[in-house]
Amino acid sequence: MSIWPKVFVTRMIPEKGQSMVTDFCDAEVWPDELPPSRAILLERVRGIEGLLCLLTDRIDGEVMDAAGPGLKVISNHAVGVDNIDLPAATRRGIPVGNTPGILTNATADFAFALILAAARRVVEGERFVRDGRWKTWGPSLLLGTDVFGATLGIIGYGRIGQALAKRASGFEMRILYYDPSLESPNPYLPGKPVGFETLLGEADFVSLHTPLTEETHHLIDDYALALMKPSAVLINTSRGPVVDPQALYRALKQRRIFAAALDVTDPEPISVDSPLLDLDNLTVVPHIASASRTTREKMATMAAENLIAGLKGERLPNCANPEVYASA
Ligand code: DGY
Repeated sequence: MSIWPKVFVTRMIPEKGQSMVTDFCDAEVWPDELPPSRAILLERVRGIEGLLCLLTDRIDGEVMDAAGPGLKVISNHAVGVDNIDLPAATRRGIPVGNTPGILTNATADFAFALILAAARRVVEGERFVRDGRWKTWGPSLLLGTDVFGATLGIIGYGRIGQALAKRASGFEMRILYYDPSLESPNPYLPGKPVGFETLLGEADFVSLHTPLTEETHHLIDDYALALMKPSAVLINTSRGPVVDPQALYRALKQRRIFAAALDVTDPEPISVDSPLLDLDNLTVVPHIASASRTTREKMATMAAENLIAGLKGERLPNCANPEVYASA
């Protein structure tokens, strides 16, 4: 029997984080490109003390019970923890680690890239050239919408939303934000706090930065989309289910909004048969907003640090359910 704590890592992660885990633990690392199936996950977690998982793994009470009473820590290689049943972990006394802060800039950069791409039809233009449809310069060819000086509505004004606002200030954008979790307006934050409907009605760009919760599931539905300007652009780098995909399809198809750009979809991956993919006013990419080399390396290192701290019985440097310590 190994003297090292037994852990399961549900996918290969960037080198430095991975070697921290394998140096300290008796680690089984799932080697495939695709996540382990539910059946495999339930089998591989048996008897582990630590689990390092990804946002593609659903970690609920069943998985925790399959691991058994020796499970000391769950470490998510992500800031979002909607894939993990936090109350179930807290009830079992298991701290859950996540990776806040380090992906803020990469994600805000990418949200801004999507704003520019959707507004100025970059992806459509590229497809146009590759399809051999570019015959000449045209006065009305692929006209987009201006970003400079436009109004940006940010839904969810946490770290990433605020980092996006900083980028937008360089484009002299007017910033509106809506975040019911902010108890009182902070005078030092750029922008103006407004109600949900006001933001949707006034913004030229609506960018989503909320966690996925019961309250934010399908927050952007037919009603919300109907409040947006016909010239508006929707950007989602948060979680796919914050937007109702059928409602988005209707709004884009009927040109009730100008365009949308999604880093995240519901479901993930989006089916290649999804009618959304037939629309030329939708840009979609495969959940890569945090995918810069440095950011992903830092995420892996932080996930490893959380895992190792939990295995040693220490407080996790970044814990998504700190209430677990109150109940200890
Ligand atoms: C996260 O960490 O939650 C991000 O979605 C990964 O890109």
